[in-house]
Amino acid sequence: MFGAFLYFAYLCTSFKLREYYIMEHSLKDITAVVNHKGGVGKTSTVLSIAGGLLRENKNLRVLLIDLDSQCSLSTQCEWNPIERKGQPTVFDSLCKEGSEKGIPVYKSENGYYYSPASEDSLAVERDLLVQDLIPQGVLFNRFAYPVDDHTGDGLTTVEESFDYILIDCPPELKNITGNAIVAASRVLIPTMLNPMSYEGLSKLLKKQTKLDLNFRKLLLGQSYELQEVVILPTMTESKTRVERCYKEEVQDSYGEFLSKVSIRRDVKVQEGQGVFKDIFRYSPHCRAAIDYTFLIKELYNL
Ligand SMILES: Nc1ncnc2c1ncn2[C@@H]1O[C@H](COP(=O)(O)OP(=O)(O)OP(=O)(O)O)[C@@H](O)[C@H]1O
Ligand SMILES: [Mg+2]
Repeated sequence: MFGAFLYFAYLCTSFKLREYYIMEHSLKDITAVVNHKGGVGKTSTVLSIAGGLLRENKNLRVLLIDLDSQCSLSTQCEWNPIERKGQPTVFDSLCKEGSEKGIPVYKSENGYYYSPASEDSLAVERDLLVQDLIPQGVLFNRFAYPVDDHTGDGLTTVEESFDYILIDCPPELKNITGNAIVAASRVLIPTMLNPMSYEGLSKLLKKQTKLDLNFRKLLLGQSYELQEVVILPTMTESKTRVERCYKEEVQDSYGEFLSKVSIRRDVKVQEGQGVFKDIFRYSPHCRAAIDYTFLIKELYNL
């Protein structure tokens, strides 16, 4: 009798463990982090959201795609472009020779998956124009193929292998950024609250709307849905008058897009990047980590 009870207990535990470790993955969201202004916190936001998602549930699979030839995101994933020379990058897969292949995917020590950039964005910009696709639809096209798996984790399609995708964009609005916007279900725009950043917002929102309407409709056909746009104030310092003033300006002009959360300036973000750790691995209780936790709840309803 006692043996039967033990056997029953064993079955229950192993079933629970299996449920815990063998998690099914299905893609819920693709967020493109975009702003043609430099240094507004795009890459830091991608890394912080990824870190926060994994802190929420370490079994989630989060894929980070680096479309910026500065390779900051790839470097934070400990990708060394010199040591890795010759290994495929996402830029290779966006070129004509990458057609009918998926994007290359590697795994970072921090737990997220990533597809690295390379320094040669000019070649990609040129190559996007000579394919049988609209130049802004190439990344979307590559998502249709099984990923080029460099992790040994048995990755298959983007849809079945990952739960969330975040795309880091260069500080410019060329076709590479257009590819991120077209492929994404949401465009997240980190911005600082000052006159120059405010001026750039209207240009960016016009470009996003044009790409969204013209190309996503064309590519997605019936299943076409309007993209969500979220403006995220970054590196805020609540005491400055200029910030308060421009927060009101953004609220008046683009209030419907403005996130409820602002990310406060916090030196821990930079310290963490110095040792290749996202904010949740470096200092999970600091101000920026708290703000990013609220942002993740707002974006993903977690
Ligand atoms: N909340 C924050 N508090 C303090 N420093 C921050 C914060 N967010 C980002 N930074 C710092 O600001 C600088 C610019 O950030 P980041 O590289 O993420 O911006 P970016 O928009 O990706 O820049 P680029 O346009 O050059 O790609 C970095 O040194 C980063 O560490
Ligand atoms: Mg960046």
